[in-house]
Amino acid sequence: MAYPKTFIEEIKMRNDLETVIGRYVDLKRAGSNMVGCCPFHSERTPSFTVFPEKNFYCFGCGAGGDVITFIMRIENLDYQSAVQYLADAAGIPVPKDEGFFVRKEKEVLSRERNYEMNKIAARHYHDNLISEDGKEALQYFLDRGLSPATIRRFGLGYAKNSFDDLYKLLLEKGFTVDEMKAAFLCGISKKGTPFDMFRNRVMFPIIDTSGRVIAFGGRVMDGSLPKYLNSSDTPVFKKKDNLFALNYAKNSCVGNANSDKAKSGELILCEGYMDVIALHQAGFSGAVATLGTAITPDQARLIARYAKTLYVSYDSDAAGKRADEKAIKYMNEVGVDVKILKVTGAKDPDEYIKKYGAESFRKLMTGASGQIDYRLNEIISKYNIEIPDERVSMLQEACSLIATIGSDIKRDVYAMRLSQMSGTDKEAILSEVKKRIRQNGREEKRKFLKTTEDTLRRYGDRINPDAMKNIKGASAEEQIIGILLLYPEYMSKISEDTLNESDFITDFNKNVFSALKKIYSESEVFEISDLNEFFSPEQMGRIHSMYRKRRELTVNDISTLSELIGALKKEKEKETAKKAGDITVDELASYLKAKRNTDKKD
Ligand code: UTP
Ligand code: MN
Repeated sequence: MAYPKTFIEEIKMRNDLETVIGRYVDLKRAGSNMVGCCPFHSERTPSFTVFPEKNFYCFGCGAGGDVITFIMRIENLDYQSAVQYLADAAGIPVPKDEGFFVRKEKEVLSRERNYEMNKIAARHYHDNLISEDGKEALQYFLDRGLSPATIRRFGLGYAKNSFDDLYKLLLEKGFTVDEMKAAFLCGISKKGTPFDMFRNRVMFPIIDTSGRVIAFGGRVMDGSLPKYLNSSDTPVFKKKDNLFALNYAKNSCVGNANSDKAKSGELILCEGYMDVIALHQAGFSGAVATLGTAITPDQARLIARYAKTLYVSYDSDAAGKRADEKAIKYMNEVGVDVKILKVTGAKDPDEYIKKYGAESFRKLMTGASGQIDYRLNEIISKYNIEIPDERVSMLQEACSLIATIGSDIKRDVYAMRLSQMSGTDKEAILSEVKKRIRQNGREEKRKFLKTTEDTLRRYGDRINPDAMKNIKGASAEEQIIGILLLYPEYMSKISEDTLNESDFITDFNKNVFSALKKIYSESEVFEISDLNEFFSPEQMGRIHSMYRKRRELTVNDISTLSELIGALKKEKEKETAKKAGDITVDELASYLKAKRNTDKKD
């Protein structure tokens, strides 16, 4: 076992599941359970349930687990970091376990060593910047209007025009070339020579909300390409999960989702490193950037933890506009209001502030239109409303938009605005809107049923793809695992002959069984949470559902288990026979018997 059981138990005891989840989800009591809207998929009616025995399950998307699984998913952490996070929260030290990394053989670089290396690199780049060699780089930052305080605050730096400047330093500090490569700090040439990844670039460290350097972006100082080079994914960095400068910006949000106060934060989302830095320097401390790519759902969730309103300030080009739409969509899903900033007369916020000053940017923010305004304007400007046909199309599209608004008052306001802008009677607009709302209601119900079905099918597929091939077999497996999770002591009654890995049909369930067996052999007991370190949060959701389904049934005795094992073995035999290309005598007999019975009925 990687961590002592008592330690994991202590963490779980000190981090009460309801309290922890309550920081992210508005929970309401429902009998002995608590329910709320699932933070892992978007829904209006609560299907996310917290059970008194300290685990959760979402009947909508299949997410489930204990407090560790929950933190892994919601904070985007791996098992170890989630344990660390909860231990920190409870103020208990994490026991050191050397064996942990040995077991995961593939791992070249541990998270700890990755952080350590990044810290050394960031310091070194910064030292370079203020050294003799860094003059040009420092001048570059000054030319771009950065103050010495800003340069320090963001820990900006310079990677020398050298192939081994950082490499030598890291080697001296005891890191291996493979580690440097895994951290994206060095590469290895075809001839096998290591080289610094970032050369002759000004450096922007990317820092997580705990203040650790997780990655770098490096910009050339001339027109050469690529303009920016960014760390690719490493053990401590997943590009799609992070936002540049969130470490500072989160502090500008009073009362975030982690505190009991209602969150009232406002963040500003831009495209580039320099936009963010320029905004912070001009006093807009809520600026963050997606790292070059369009916003991802993970980033949207991250933003939702801190902000109630997001100002989107992308570049004023076509790509920026498309990105606006994406931001609106994802932020809607996580319940954050979006305001679109129209930066005109400059290509990006950085340039805008330089040209027109911070006060003008502030005005842009106050005058920023909400998404309905923004879209209404987009719709109106698309059509020539002097032409009757176009005018009708415009009104239809605009009415569909207004029909998506949840509040009567707001609908009325926008109907009024549309009426004024188009010279159409407001009542006519409202009645058209009402018609669409009714249609949408029907449509939504149908869609809901369909997506529930699809989700179930898809989740089934994704986690255990083999299950589709032999549903009966997979079901027996799941029930066996469910019972074993309920009564680990049954494990002692199962000999190798009764049940072993080779009896399993689907890989996923086989792996679960095998993990249980392994844990049991080490400690004579197990519980679901012991599986956390072997399976992803999504897979844990499935395992919890096996447990839950069986728990709802009253008879879970050893003879039920034997029956299920019998059923599984029968399915397995059929599988094997199928693979061999023929069927067994028994199977043929039972097939014919079944056939005769149905014939009789007919
Ligand atoms: P832009 O090309 O808009 O650059 O890229 P910028 O932010 O205005 O940069 P400056 O002002 O010229 O320094 C926006 C963002 O896209 C990513 C970077 O994160 C950049 O800040 N990007 C851009 C890359 O990752 N690689 C590139 O080659 C270019
Ligand atoms: Mn720029």
